[in-house]
Amino acid sequence: MRRKLVVGNWKMHGNRAANAQLLAGLKEAGPWNADVAVCVPFLYIAETALALTGASIAYGSQDVSAHEQGAYTGEVSSAMLADVGCRYAIVGHSERRAYHAESDQLVADKAKAALAHGVTPIVCVGETRAEREAGQTEAVVKRQLAAVIHTLGHCTGEMVVAYEPVWAIGTGLTATPEQAQAVHAVLRAQLHAATEHSDRVQILYGGSMNAANAASLLAQPDIDGGLIGGASLKAPDFLQIIAAAS
Ligand code: 13P
Repeated sequence: MRRKLVVGNWKMHGNRAANAQLLAGLKEAGPWNADVAVCVPFLYIAETALALTGASIAYGSQDVSAHEQGAYTGEVSSAMLADVGCRYAIVGHSERRAYHAESDQLVADKAKAALAHGVTPIVCVGETRAEREAGQTEAVVKRQLAAVIHTLGHCTGEMVVAYEPVWAIGTGLTATPEQAQAVHAVLRAQLHAATEHSDRVQILYGGSMNAANAASLLAQPDIDGGLIGGASLKAPDFLQIIAAAS
C-alpha cells in the first residue's frame, strides 16, 4: 500500500508574514499518517525550513534548473535545493510548460538534475481542454511521461508523478474521480512497463482539489495524493485535505 502524499504548491503567492502564519497553522496540526509537503517560492525556502523545524512537513521548490552550475543567471540548481534541505522539486508544471515554453525534454532533464542531488522531482503531466475534447488525453500524458522515463532510466521509480489536467487548474472544475483514475491507470501501466519499482511511485492528482472533493478522489486505487494550489494557501482547507489522505 503506497503512502499518500499531499503537496501544497503555493505558486507565486505569499509574503513573509502570511507564510509564517500559514506554516504555524500547519505545524501545530501534525503529524499525520501521510506524507505532507509545501512547495514554496525559492525566496522563501530558507524561512520555510526554519519555520518547519521539528515538524513532520517536508518542503521543496516549484522548479529547478536542468544545469549543474555555472553562468545561468536567475536559475537555481538542485545542489542548492539539496543544500537548504529541499525534499521535492516540482518540474514541468503546466504553467511553466505554457508560459516558459518548457519542452518535454527540458522537463525530463530537470527531473534528472533533481534526482542527481537526492531531491525528488514531482513531474507534472496533463492535457489541455482542447486536447481532451480532441480525444488526445492519453497520448499527451504518455508522451510527457515517456520523455521523463527515457531520461531517468533505472531511476524512473524514484520520481513522483502529478496528473494535472490543465482545464481543472484554478478553474473550480475538478476531474471526476473516474476521469482522474482512468488517466492515473494509464500512467501506472506506463510506469509498470518501464520499471520494476512502479508500485512505489506516488501518482498525485492536481486541479481544483479541495476539502469537499479530496476524499472521493483519494479513494481511487491509483490516486496516491494531491498537488494542491489554491486550497493550500489556507491552513484549515489544506489540513482538511491532509485529513482526507491520512
Ligand atoms: P489549484 O488547486 O489552484 O487548481 O491548482 C492546482 C495546481 O496547479 C497545483 O500544482
